[in-house]
Amino acid sequence: MAFAQKLVCRECGTEYPLGPHYVCEECFGPLEVHYDYDKLRQTLGASEIARRPSTLWRYRELLPVGDAPPVDMGAGFTPLVRAENLGRRLGLRNLYLKNDAANPTHSFKDRAVSVAVTMARQFDFEAAACPSTGNLANSLAAHAAKASIPAYIFIPRGLERAKILSTAVYGPTVVEVDGTYDDVNRLCTELADEFRWAFVNVNLRPYYSEGAKTLAFEVVEQLGWRAPDHVIVPIASGNLLVKIDKGLDELRRVGLLDGGPVTRVHGAQPAGCAPVADAFRRGADDVKPVRPDTIVKSLAIGNPADGIYALQTVRSTGGVVETVTDEEVVESIRLLAETEGLFTETAGGVTTGVLRRLAEAGAFRPDETVVAYITGMGLKTPEAVDGVLKAPVRIPATVRAFEEKVLGRVAVS
Ligand SMILES: Cc1ncc(COP(=O)(O)O)c(C=O)c1O
Ligand SMILES: [Zn+2]
Repeated sequence: MAFAQKLVCRECGTEYPLGPHYVCEECFGPLEVHYDYDKLRQTLGASEIARRPSTLWRYRELLPVGDAPPVDMGAGFTPLVRAENLGRRLGLRNLYLKNDAANPTHSFKDRAVSVAVTMARQFDFEAAACPSTGNLANSLAAHAAKASIPAYIFIPRGLERAKILSTAVYGPTVVEVDGTYDDVNRLCTELADEFRWAFVNVNLRPYYSEGAKTLAFEVVEQLGWRAPDHVIVPIASGNLLVKIDKGLDELRRVGLLDGGPVTRVHGAQPAGCAPVADAFRRGADDVKPVRPDTIVKSLAIGNPADGIYALQTVRSTGGVVETVTDEEVVESIRLLAETEGLFTETAGGVTTGVLRRLAEAGAFRPDETVVAYITGMGLKTPEAVDGVLKAPVRIPATVRAFEEKVLGRVAVS
């Protein structure tokens, strides 16, 4: 049974049938999927969900895919790790990390992409495509391979080598565009008018963006159907942050979450690309585009599509948007690795850095439940820590050399 009912304009409320539409014909506002929440309240229960496979498809009634078989690579239901060591450092007794590096292509993008590619198949698109800062490229290339449809992946100049390799390996057409992500995005919006292709984060954006809600569903389920007091979310386009909040709201609407206190949603941006943080500090309602200059390439979107909605979400929940410098990103990647054994990419360094800043500023009470979303994995951006880590101690293959050079003992005989 399908529970997704219609697309609704976020700005003016005009309604559209579920189809491959993405902007409102009345006001050019973005469209969002709406569900039959009353019917879901009667049919969807926690014990039923608990019996289902450990993937994001366990919440399929709250995704727009209907009854069609999904393109399933096993995305979702990633570990929610209790971070006791990092928590001790930061004075937090209930700190958790949502480790989304554990997804099939090692970032949270697998959630959005598996939903979008499932819809691309339903709408009979000839090919899948996207503009990407790297992780979406990896994920779409893999899912298109799995769905046996051709993929066209558009990336800006200068992405990390590992992100390009781990896209190209799946055999898509990779197009490196001279320019920033914002140039690539503009080009893809023009191409989407010319070709009958599913540009997953452009003309399928209403569907693609729904996948990110599962990051809220899972955290609530993993906490025993309880909402966290605070979440820290990295911002590039702003979609992830907005949809985590939508996910929490939907759980309340369908009765899977009691009223309880509102979760404060905090945003994290690198100082070298912080248009949403800048608007937050100015107390403004508009997000002014910036030209990115940061090592955090996955978050380098200077003109974020959902920037104003991210800003509204943060403000309405009592959160903040905070930034960290590139140096703090590197320090924070190391802090997370050394305390929790978790190697994250630069975006996770931003999240961890902002978590630390907020903890040090007293934004959390020690017993509050705080969840930091670690959205991508460190092996994709090794250059961030290259040169700042201890080099291996090189020795000949003898016990004596080991004792002298590694343990610093002087040999007796
Ligand atoms: C690892 C990682 N985290 C977070 C984000 C931010 O996602 P959004 O564009 O939905 O704000 C991205 C975007 O590419 C990403 O790659
Ligand atoms: Zn509208």
